[in-house]
Amino acid sequence: MKKIITIVGARPQFIKASVVSKSIKESGAMQELVVHTGQHFDANMSDVFFEQLGISKPAFELGIHSAKHGEMTGRMLIEIEKILIQEQADRVMVYGDTNSTLAGALAASKLHIPVAHVEAGLRSFNMQMPEEINRILTDQLSDILFCPTETAVSNLRAEGFESKPVAIHNVGDVMQDAALHFAAKAVPPSGLQGHTGFILATLHRAENTDDLARLADIVQALNDVHKNLATVVLPLHPRTRKAIQQAGIHLEVEVIDPVGYLEMIWLLEKAELVMTDSGGVQKEAFFFGKSCVTLRDQTEWVELVEVGANTLVGADPERIRAAAQSAFGRRVQDTQQLYGGGQAAARIVALMN
Ligand code: UD1
Ligand code: UDP
Repeated sequence: MKKIITIVGARPQFIKASVVSKSIKESGAMQELVVHTGQHFDANMSDVFFEQLGISKPAFELGIHSAKHGEMTGRMLIEIEKILIQEQADRVMVYGDTNSTLAGALAASKLHIPVAHVEAGLRSFNMQMPEEINRILTDQLSDILFCPTETAVSNLRAEGFESKPVAIHNVGDVMQDAALHFAAKAVPPSGLQGHTGFILATLHRAENTDDLARLADIVQALNDVHKNLATVVLPLHPRTRKAIQQAGIHLEVEVIDPVGYLEMIWLLEKAELVMTDSGGVQKEAFFFGKSCVTLRDQTEWVELVEVGANTLVGADPERIRAAAQSAFGRRVQDTQQLYGGGQAAARIVALMN
């Protein structure tokens, strides 16, 4: 039986890996060991997802977090290498574009262990983003590139991947699998039962939190929208909480702690609009039929902008307010199955068999 080592560490990776792990188990043809780098470590950023989504308990927990990029990635590389040598894995699987993704792919490729990258080929074309660096390098180190969209496949073609000895597949987006699978299990976050008519917001990307002018502008716009349009519910990422406290900025929206995935789905189902800089949440808004206002200058999910479901507004308060006003309550429909229709995990496992 093939032995797969899955490397995860950050919140969105638990969600993505949960559906693939389930398919791996169902296939009966592979054994999976999960390595948790520890990048995310608060109970509501990590444990809750293992509990809610039925992911196997990690075989290894590295506890590496809260460091600068080089140190975090370097320490992960050292520890993952030891595990890969010990476990003699046939394949390593990595997800998305975090430091945990890059560390896993680099450790494996140096040991000549084949790497499968789930969410390959995405590009923002902004090399200032840590995620862009991580995803470009991870794609270069992978021999199976599981793309979520046709755009992602085109990006790889444009970078010359077709002439490399690698496999490129558009399997669709595993996050759609997760959204469909867990939708029926949604639960309200504590204290929010019965809430309606609100806007769901999330904010955590370094390009926004680490630039105080951008952060202040976005917060000001969210405060205005909350006062003048509709309640803004903001499950606040620890990175943003720290940045806002340090900068002495005042958030006047309905701030809650980060929530589990089942609570997040409930918020997505009930919201009238989503405002976010998250990669995953942009698509989840679409999966649940809601318009999205994206607090970034670029997106990797360009299809959503093309079909009018997503408006890119950057950090300009006027654009944010205007977009929120015009998109509030506007429903969107997935008429073209832009993200594969929820079969990604099964396709991935079939292709690895
Ligand atoms: C990481 C990813 C980002 C992804 C996000 C998902 C990188 C470079 N970035 O960003 O692409 O969108 O995860 O949420 O890998 N912290 C806590 N508790 C936690 C987790 C983090 O307090 O459970 C704090 C850390 O101590 C640190 C800050 O949040 O101060 C940022 O954490 P880090 O893992 O470096 O990056 P994220 O912003 O979470
Ligand atoms: N999410 C969650 N609870 C929250 C905020 C987000 O479960 O409080 C989920 C969200 O539904 C999505 C994933 O986390 O599935 C996205 O992760 P995040 O926004 O942290 O990272 P990104 O997608 O930007 O890398």
